[in-house]
Order: sequence, then C-alpha cells, then structure tokens
Amino acid sequence: MILDTTNPNTNPQKITIINGANLNLLGKRETDIYGNQPFEVFFENLRQKYAKVCELEYFQSNIEGEIINKIHQIGFAQHKIILNAGAYTHTSIAIADALRAVPTQAVEVHISNVFKREKFRQISFLSEVCVGTIGGLGYKGYELAILYFLEL
Ligand code: DQA
Repeated sequence: MILDTTNPNTNPQKITIINGANLNLLGKRETDIYGNQPFEVFFENLRQKYAKVCELEYFQSNIEGEIINKIHQIGFAQHKIILNAGAYTHTSIAIADALRAVPTQAVEVHISNVFKREKFRQISFLSEVCVGTIGGLGYKGYELAILYFLEL
C-alpha cells in the first residue's frame, strides 16, 4: 500500500514516541553506534512529514517511573506507542507491566542491532508485550513503526 501523506484526515491517529534512558543524548552519545543527528531534529522532520495523517508526539525520560506514568496516561485512549526504552528494555519488568496494563498497542524500536552487541542486550522484557520489534535500522525504525500503525 502506498500511503498518501497529502490526504488530510479529520480524525488523525495519535502516536507517541517514548524514548527512555540516555536517549536525550542522541547525536552526541556513542555516535559510531547511534549516529550524530539529534533525535529532536529527526522527530520534527517526521512530525511534519506525517502531519496530515497522524498526530505525532515525542516524550523522553531517563526516569523509569515517568515512562510508566506516560504509558498509563496515553495507554487507555486510542493512542499508539513507539517505545525505545534504552537500557530499561533489558531490566524493566515495571515498564513491561505498564504495557500489559493498558489496551493500546506498542511497537518496540531499537536504533542499533542489539543482537550484534553484548549478550545482556539480547534480553528484552518488553518484546513479549509489544506487537513487534524493529531493530538495527537506525532512526528509520521509528518511521517504519509509524507506517505499521497507519496501515492497520
Ligand atoms: C538501544 C539499545 C539499548 O541496549 C541501549 O541501552 C540503548 C539504546 C537502541 O536504540 O539501540 O540505550 O535501545
């Protein structure tokens, strides 16, 4: 299916990208792995590109409880979630339980290919409560998750 991003929609889908621990440093942090574009710049381009077909929101926190609160806040509305929890992916039963507690769908995204990295990155507490996981495709993974939700 080819998505017509010029077609105005009166009831746009709401999608929130939630980035977790250390992802506020994208563009500066381990640039050989994550690239050197600040996420905010990428997000603004993405928001404008899809403005006619969905309402995109960006939330970032380094604090586990704030990520959980955000999932509670949006997870009961018809509001989809694209989640890169950073290292909380590999540790947080609490974020997994928050996703279990709400009816909305989430797609898990990782910028790097976690399966080519350390063993501890190959465990995700979140994958089993997400509809799917995209990894290793850089920032493109976030856009692919949006396309998944728009074509549902
Ligand atoms: C990451 C992978 C995690 O292992 C790491 O802790 C991150 C970023 C990624 O997007 O590739 O912070 O989620």
